[in-house]
Amino acid sequence: MKLPYCEPYKIKMTEAIRTSTRAEREEWIRQAKYNLFKLHSDQVLIDLLTDSGTGSMSDRQWAAMMTGDESYAGASSYYRLKQTIEKIFGMPYFLPTHQGRAAENVIFSALLKEGDVIPGNSHFDTTKGHIEFRRCAAPDCTIDAAADTQLEIPFKGEMDLAKLEEVFKKYPKEKIPCTVLTITNNTAGGQPVSMRNIRGTAELCRRYGIPLLIDSARFAENAYFIKTREEGYADKTIKEIVREIYQYADIMTISAKKDGVVNMGGFVAMRSEELFRRAMQYSIMFEGYLTYGGMNGRDMDALAVGLDENTEFDQLNARIGQVKFLGDLLDEYGVPYQRPAGGHAIFLDAKQILPNVPKEEFIAQTLCVELYLEAGIRGVEIGSILADRDPVTRENRYPRLELARLAIPRRVYTDNHMRVIAAACRNIYERRESITSGYRIAFETPILRHFTVELEKL
Ligand code: F0G
Repeated sequence: MKLPYCEPYKIKMTEAIRTSTRAEREEWIRQAKYNLFKLHSDQVLIDLLTDSGTGSMSDRQWAAMMTGDESYAGASSYYRLKQTIEKIFGMPYFLPTHQGRAAENVIFSALLKEGDVIPGNSHFDTTKGHIEFRRCAAPDCTIDAAADTQLEIPFKGEMDLAKLEEVFKKYPKEKIPCTVLTITNNTAGGQPVSMRNIRGTAELCRRYGIPLLIDSARFAENAYFIKTREEGYADKTIKEIVREIYQYADIMTISAKKDGVVNMGGFVAMRSEELFRRAMQYSIMFEGYLTYGGMNGRDMDALAVGLDENTEFDQLNARIGQVKFLGDLLDEYGVPYQRPAGGHAIFLDAKQILPNVPKEEFIAQTLCVELYLEAGIRGVEIGSILADRDPVTRENRYPRLELARLAIPRRVYTDNHMRVIAAACRNIYERRESITSGYRIAFETPILRHFTVELEKL
């Protein structure tokens, strides 16, 4: 018999979590105005709100924190991180930031001006927020197949090159400061982009003279999918694949809280010294001096180790294997989700799970609340609340997909937790006919409303 894989680590420390009663959860979620962001974490049993900053660091990362150099300028921690970024991504210039959106803020301040157009494959919400906040447009050029949740294809997060070229033809080059390629494609379900598509996107960008920016939050998971799914990559190491990906990029932004496996941090890196010089002032203004930006020295050291460790096959195999394990259980129970299972999360197909809730009553949010009431599990809505209102018409935008994302933190939960999650999903699915109403908005902010929205039960 072939031995199954196991986690390439053992557990040295634990953190208690507690179960609650349904009555307690009903009261807590009511107090939270049916917004799961407003729950206290000790009111949650299994927290799948995000895989961002919620992973557990290794003993080597904790040890590296002790070598942190907190000098204001020229800290040795900065140079250790710089060396790692050069080795892993081949990018010569970088600015540390406190997280991914801060990297977006720094680089978009240097690149964008009002009226610009920044195409991409499902921009992440903060990326889109930073673009639209600057009165620029963010046309979505994701392949149509990404919207068919039951379609099983290996690279479902890709850029549609025909759609991208249409944007390039429609606007003059001066209006398109960059293209954003997000790997893996979070919004479309943690779905990967093939090397072929990365190369194709880069070639098209080059042909039109437009820089390619890779939003790299889950770059290592994307490399894992290339290795395991794309012809010609099975014998390459994750690090070799990552180096090839970044040969095609001019700029990268990264939230290091995901595949860097740190609790806070990020950076923007680039090839062009000229762009680096333009971006420097925004780092100093918004983040901090060039050699720490938004990060402590100790955090830069932990990140350098995290990037190195998490670009190893066994780490990614266990991590992505656990997400697939949850997906396989859902298959067994017939619960529909965005197929195939993503790298960092399962995205439940809320429209299919709750067929009787009208879209105006926020289907995916309704599912998230149900899941919390059922088992104290906290997921997150990727649906029409997240989609915000149209910046021009102020009408609600209803995306094709209403998803409830269950993001799995790295190295935090065991397969037994996955069993509880799957059972809770199954229970809701089995009583789907009886769930017929959702929520209405009582309070919202004009942008990124999902974080603070307040809802009323209908
Ligand atoms: N880009 C992608 C693809 C992301 O998934 C995120 C964050 C960011 C950029 C912004 O990074 O949070 O460090 O400022 N995603 C988290 C999530 C929040 O839950 O998916 P950040």
